[in-house]
Amino acid sequence: MNTKRTFLKQSITTLLALGASTLTSKSMAESALLSFNSDRTIIRDIPIVVSTWEHGLAANNAAWKVLAEQGKAIDAVEAGVRIPEADPDVMTVGYGGYPDREGNVTLDACIMDENQNCGSVAYLQNIKHPISVARLVMDKTPHVMLVGEGALQFAKTQGFLEENLLTANAKKAWQDWRVESKYAPVINIENHDTIGMLALDSHGDLSGACTTSGAAFKMAGRVGDSPIIGAGLYVDNDIGAATATGMGELMMKTVGCHLVVEMMRQGMSPTDACKAAVERIASKLGDYKRFQVGFLALNKTGDYGSYCIQPGFNYAVKSKHENKLIDANSLV
Ligand code: GLY
Repeated sequence: MNTKRTFLKQSITTLLALGASTLTSKSMAESALLSFNSDRTIIRDIPIVVSTWEHGLAANNAAWKVLAEQGKAIDAVEAGVRIPEADPDVMTVGYGGYPDREGNVTLDACIMDENQNCGSVAYLQNIKHPISVARLVMDKTPHVMLVGEGALQFAKTQGFLEENLLTANAKKAWQDWRVESKYAPVINIENHDTIGMLALDSHGDLSGACTTSGAAFKMAGRVGDSPIIGAGLYVDNDIGAATATGMGELMMKTVGCHLVVEMMRQGMSPTDACKAAVERIASKLGDYKRFQVGFLALNKTGDYGSYCIQPGFNYAVKSKHENKLIDANSLV
């Protein structure tokens, strides 16, 4: 065999072995910060943060401020998703989110860290930052999830102020909707939905956050996938993390984000794992083309990927070398 080819083969074998070891060795991730993309090109790209939709660009910038200072992924994802939560122009998350059929803005959120600690709130009203309430459920209570009035009372004990979250624009959209009151699955509402964010910090630890005002003009009391650990978000610090966007009921029926992480545990790349979860959902639905779901995943080496049913879902990536919006591949 010619010498150059032998050298290349040996180098690739060594590098692949190094890459494999980053899956199992935290110290490797910490010391070398060496990682591989899906196409096996080498990158040194930890820390890294990925988020659903275009509003993920601004959210990633906030998360990056934490990650670039060697901060923890859990602090980064909380800081990141607070940006669209407070943005009145993001009509599917937090302040400015579309209300339910009764005109009430009801919020769902969850957060999960590298030690499988998690916190969640659902059907929370009049609190602008549900993700920070979820963080305090995780940090300060023996529980994982608080809902409705109980979540609101807890938030108030932690110093959160009640405020009206229904903006004039969202109220107008609700009043327009009431003219016909038609309720059907919405595909890519205003080209965005739920923010889900995943981060891998410079210590090699993963965390995630997910927050939404849920389906526009939903039935009163409806809760989607976003606050459900395993459905809208899942993190396993040995393997990777996943978050979801789109029709929450479909993620709940398949425990979609847990499924994506388990697919990665079996050796799939983040993209392939997201694709497998989308295909699982589609296989259970005769009429899957009427719906949109999208998954976004990040593994322990900093490799990321996504997949959705309909074209139109995109996600934002930020690291030392990348700051961009990527269109996800789709089944349709
Ligand atoms: N994926 C957000 C929801 O269905 O509520």
